[in-house]
Amino acid sequence: MLVAVEGIVETLRGVPPPRFQPGHICKLLHDLSVRPETLQPFLHFAPRRYTRNLIYRDDLFELIALCWDAGSASPIHNHSNQLCWLAVHKGALRLENFDSLDGPGPGDRIRLVPAGGLDRAPVGCVDLQQGDAAIHRVSNPFAERAVSLHVYSRPYDSCIAYDREKQTAREIQLFYHSVGGKLVSPQREEHFQ
Ligand code: SIN
Repeated sequence: MLVAVEGIVETLRGVPPPRFQPGHICKLLHDLSVRPETLQPFLHFAPRRYTRNLIYRDDLFELIALCWDAGSASPIHNHSNQLCWLAVHKGALRLENFDSLDGPGPGDRIRLVPAGGLDRAPVGCVDLQQGDAAIHRVSNPFAERAVSLHVYSRPYDSCIAYDREKQTAREIQLFYHSVGGKLVSPQREEHFQ
């Protein structure tokens, strides 16, 4: 069903906290597609990187639109103690999962090995990351810009970012590029790319 982005927010707000669980939210995101024109005010692209655009946040969850310029990628990062759903809204994304042979970190000598994923996740694809061991990278190696909708429960402001070559795992802060459709001032905005 095609709904306005406000409808997605209201639907998610109507989910009782005990039902904010993988299967239920995956089904919601599969069943509902956002009317593109209602998402437009939240979409801000930046050259050669991806941007995090906050649509709604409360104590239970946040809904973010991520805008992926062609060639952009997230760092490899984790979702410790958190559920993360991702739905591809426009374009396509590469989803790569990793296992750590040395625990989640942070620290040194943290070795990661590839653990599957999707080379080209198309529009409508819904991915879930859960549990302490969930480590992944999202990227847009394709020629077309992409947009994905992310639901994080609970909201998160930091995570661990991994450097596979250096075998390091460091805590980093996360920032929004825009909030409620308004750009955050460039001095305050930073990004982990
Ligand atoms: C993700 O974890 O799915 C994307 C990274 C982010 O939220 O910045």
